[in-house]
Amino acid sequence: MAGPKLVVLISGGGTNLQALIDALRAGELPAEIAAVISNRGDAYGLQRAAQVGIPTRVVDHRHYPDRPTFDRALLAEIEAWQPALVPLAGFMRVLTADFVTHFRGRLLNIHPSLLPRHRGLDTHRRALQAGDREHGASVHFVTPELDGGPVVLQARVPVKADDDEATLAARVLTKEHVIYPLAVRWVLEGRLVWQDGQVLYDSRPLAQPLQLDELDG
Ligand code: GRF
Repeated sequence: MAGPKLVVLISGGGTNLQALIDALRAGELPAEIAAVISNRGDAYGLQRAAQVGIPTRVVDHRHYPDRPTFDRALLAEIEAWQPALVPLAGFMRVLTADFVTHFRGRLLNIHPSLLPRHRGLDTHRRALQAGDREHGASVHFVTPELDGGPVVLQARVPVKADDDEATLAARVLTKEHVIYPLAVRWVLEGRLVWQDGQVLYDSRPLAQPLQLDELDG
């Protein structure tokens, strides 16, 4: 289906990529995934893309002497497809400021915590260790600061007394698969815009992240 082009970046299983594919095929995401690019050749997400005929590319960070050289190669591979938006979906590389600045508001990421809590890795273990009663996922525009960009949409889940890292991660992942296609659609529709360093939602400055369970309709 034609529409604005996405290039999705992955590193692993690609369940968020699958959620975008499913939303697109259900007619809920007016876009086309032009390509899926992974920094790891063994990423199962590459098979998910191939199964539905989406072109795949691997830009393996181990083949480059340093981060800036890798980022330049990745940038060139992405821009070959001329995407309107580049969702990071389980992409596990820290990107250089030059890379992020080049894409200026065309980079989205989904992070498995209620940012600004628990930036970085091992978020579910850290939420359990901190005794958090609530946890969740956040979609944010990507800025040079790791997991520091403006959060646009969040979904919350309860932390249960008998949770372990796996049960909590699974509960969060289910919500990720709802909010990511929604946020990608809103950005493509121009409802969510990154402009002059702030986020506009329906043309009004977004002071707080939108909360999935507070959305009407
Ligand atoms: C997810 O928790 C995502 O939030 C994080 O990586 C995990 C795996 O994502 N960035 P996926 O299944 O590869 O999309």
